[in-house]
Amino acid sequence: MGIFTMFNPLRIFFPKKMVGIDIGTSSIKVVEISRWGEGRTLENYGEIKSDLIYKEPLSDLKMSTNLLASNFVSVAIRGILDEAKIKTKSVIFSIPDFSTFCTSFTIPPMPEKEIKDAIYYNASQYITLPISEVTLDWKIISGVPGNESLPSTVFLVAIPNQVIAEYQQMAQESGLELYALEAEALSITRALIKNNKKTICLMDIGVQSSTVNIIDDGFLKRSYSFNFYSNQLVRAVASALSVSDKEAEEIKNKEGLVSLRQGLAETLYLLVDPLVAKIKSISSEFMQSEKKEVEEIYLTGGTANLPGLKEYFEKTLGKKVHVSNCFSDILYPPILDETLRKMSPSFSVAVGAALSGLEI
Ligand SMILES: Nc1ncnc2c1ncn2[C@@H]1O[C@H](COP(=O)(O)OP(=O)(O)OP(=O)(O)O)[C@@H](O)[C@H]1O
Ligand SMILES: [Mg+2]
Repeated sequence: MGIFTMFNPLRIFFPKKMVGIDIGTSSIKVVEISRWGEGRTLENYGEIKSDLIYKEPLSDLKMSTNLLASNFVSVAIRGILDEAKIKTKSVIFSIPDFSTFCTSFTIPPMPEKEIKDAIYYNASQYITLPISEVTLDWKIISGVPGNESLPSTVFLVAIPNQVIAEYQQMAQESGLELYALEAEALSITRALIKNNKKTICLMDIGVQSSTVNIIDDGFLKRSYSFNFYSNQLVRAVASALSVSDKEAEEIKNKEGLVSLRQGLAETLYLLVDPLVAKIKSISSEFMQSEKKEVEEIYLTGGTANLPGLKEYFEKTLGKKVHVSNCFSDILYPPILDETLRKMSPSFSVAVGAALSGLEI
């Protein structure tokens, strides 16, 4: 599920190596993963910070023109591929939440051959764009398709065709072959949740936007996107301590919520509280509609590493919180262990995307 196969309708061969790319606000992340039977190996990885690529602040670019239209991105990707010595051409891009549309709905019992039409009909009611301008992918997440007495629940992902065309062009300009595109929420679910069948709330804290996802019995059931600018944490530290943004970033990442500097932790608590509130409200919506309580929380995105954040979430939510390592089931040289552990929250999207192309 979640893998858009339309670019490769003849997927008769299964690639042994795959590149996964996440074009994030703060940096572009690239990983190359290979497959041998059930095993996976991290071949190479690379990252380039966006302040090295863009002349204008990225947030302005993203808001006004299209991020991908800028050929800075494909130049940067080519640079990473060269530097990391990645020769594999097959690529899966993860598409950010603000370019995709995810929803779930129930369809009444019906013969299997009618399901597609029913999904298109329902989709047209949820999606603001004309249905002819989007590509749909879906998965039946409860009920048995074709069972004529039970309703089914459908999880639907829609991507505007325009977005698909832009990624296709960018792959080409980067010298890559687009194998598939995948919604970000599905990539992080694959990378982090693995075989955990519990009811889980997975939050990705981004720079530009963040998502809250509910995964239940291994399936992504809800995905919501909201604005949370992690840059505001840096600004708050910079103004509280009258230091430059660069120094503030270092202090924030090193001390975070456990800082002993006068008033700093309190300022940061106030800024992260809306994240806690989001988890609470979405968990309680899920509880109301599905009668299932969220049992565990997973955090990802670079800000998941903020010192003290995991503990603060555990205390305020009263639940186990994981900041888990997306590389944990992947083979890599032991010497990289500490580096990869630190990078993991930023790389989970790219890792999940690459893994999706290696599933058998
Ligand atoms: N140790 C750390 N503690 C706290 N924050 C950190 C740490 N390391 C990195 N960050 C923050 O993580 C953020 C980058 O995260 P990430 O790479 O997940 O963002 P992104 O994917 O580029 O953004 P988006 O998903 O919104 O496009 C930056 O705001 C940075 O300050
Ligand atoms: Mg991101």
